[in-house]
Amino acid sequence: MPYNLPLLRAFERTSSTPLNALSQPALSYEGEDGARMVVKFRVNGDPVEIHLKSGDRLLVDVLREDLQLTGTKHGCGIGACGTCTVIVDGYPVASCLQLAAMCEGADIRTIEGLAESGALHPVQQAFVNRSALQCGICIPGHVMAACALLEKHPDPTEEEIRASADSVYCRCTGYVRILEAYREAIALARKAAKG
Ligand code: FES
Ligand code: FES
Repeated sequence: MPYNLPLLRAFERTSSTPLNALSQPALSYEGEDGARMVVKFRVNGDPVEIHLKSGDRLLVDVLREDLQLTGTKHGCGIGACGTCTVIVDGYPVASCLQLAAMCEGADIRTIEGLAESGALHPVQQAFVNRSALQCGICIPGHVMAACALLEKHPDPTEEEIRASADSVYCRCTGYVRILEAYREAIALARKAAKG
């Protein structure tokens, strides 16, 4: 599983290593549609079944092209920029390196799954409140990376916040507002938890 490694280093302070824990072999299949594999997983809580003609299709492409979830962006394609980050079984993953065929049984979350009943997720709201974006291309990756971190560590250290922000390249906003958004997201999440 191609984890977002810079973030994972901060993320893993209390977790057992997830490496090799998520991948399962895809099923062999010969469908009338020419598909050779059927892979089932969940995306934002909904069950999904995809038919793959080859085993080399990337999760980012399946999300964007097959499922029309275009909030996940395809940037560098080599696992370096983090803009394609999604959450797989609770871990931040570079979807441009993740084979869809290896996602059997996974629970995948994308930026489209964060808002509930029309209300933005606290991390999304914090990025809006702090105007922590310009072109916006990197922001879904930042938001998903921040969500993954805060779900695991609701009270992260400054070092962990910076490691998470550093795991997604932003070429136009700069990181001051993004770091402010992380800190505001923590405050908003605390407030929401208190009701
Ligand atoms: S597009 Fe996946 S890390 Fe850059
Ligand atoms: S907002 Fe433009 S690259 Fe980050």
